[in-house]
Amino acid sequence: MAIRNIATRLITRNFSSSSVVPQKGTRPFQVAIDGPAASGKSTTAKMVAQRLGFDYIDTGAFYRCVTLAALSKGIDPSNPSQALQISNLAESSHIGLKTIFSTTSASKSSLPTTKVFLDSKDVSFEIRTGTVSKHVSAVAAIGPVREAVLQKVRDMGATSISQESNSGRDGLVMDGRDIGTVVLPNADLKIFLVADSRVRAERRLQELARSGSKEEVLDIETVQKDLERRDELDRTREVSPLRKADDAVELDTSLLTIEGQVDAIVQEVHRRQQAASSSSSQ
Ligand code: CDP
Repeated sequence: MAIRNIATRLITRNFSSSSVVPQKGTRPFQVAIDGPAASGKSTTAKMVAQRLGFDYIDTGAFYRCVTLAALSKGIDPSNPSQALQISNLAESSHIGLKTIFSTTSASKSSLPTTKVFLDSKDVSFEIRTGTVSKHVSAVAAIGPVREAVLQKVRDMGATSISQESNSGRDGLVMDGRDIGTVVLPNADLKIFLVADSRVRAERRLQELARSGSKEEVLDIETVQKDLERRDELDRTREVSPLRKADDAVELDTSLLTIEGQVDAIVQEVHRRQQAASSSSSQ
């Protein structure tokens, strides 16, 4: 308990001051999962969190909420003259996440669901529509928007870790584009997921079909082109571009099942936890 409290203080300080960065092994285990659009990050991250009893934060949901907030105010995110207004919205919006994990061992392989709240309204479905997806990378490229989101994500990370002794969660899994490079630069395990863009387009179409989306059914070429356009924007933007951290493990999921990639990550977490505990007991 005492060690956990010290760890909590350390991580809280990390989130409020960039000069204090807790070292690996001195706080709850952190897993950073990055990768291009539809590479399976959020499904993998949620299932890894469920298997390990960790908390989960979907950082893409924050950028999607800001995009939705802008669109619902009639702001055109692709118009650069609107950047200040969008940044103000990013600062003033209240964004909340609630992930529901299954607690029975029989349903351990079931997919946890994350509810997303924008100013207390449940927008879980609205932030995944094609219109939001189309504009989100332009919003995520605005520097002050990223600063505002980074602060919110760090606050949420600090809160989830400090409440963790109540929730019984032992660590944190975060997914996005800049987790290993910017948000959690000292993460204990960094994964960079990649997959062929055709495979990713097929997965995105299946996901849309499963969600019962009422939007116009898109063909695979259109979905693939949109993913590639978004990846290009994410990779080439000036602030926190999508890139693999030097110490990240790359996992190509083109031929892996979701269970296969979750198993690989869970095993790697166990391996690193054992290595850390045997080196600290020496
Ligand atoms: O689910 P999908 O991979 O399509 O996207 P997402 O994770 O929901 O993220 C939506 C968009 O937010 C991405 O295309 C990025 O432009 C942006 N994003 C980012 O810039 N940095 C993050 N840490 C997370 C998302």
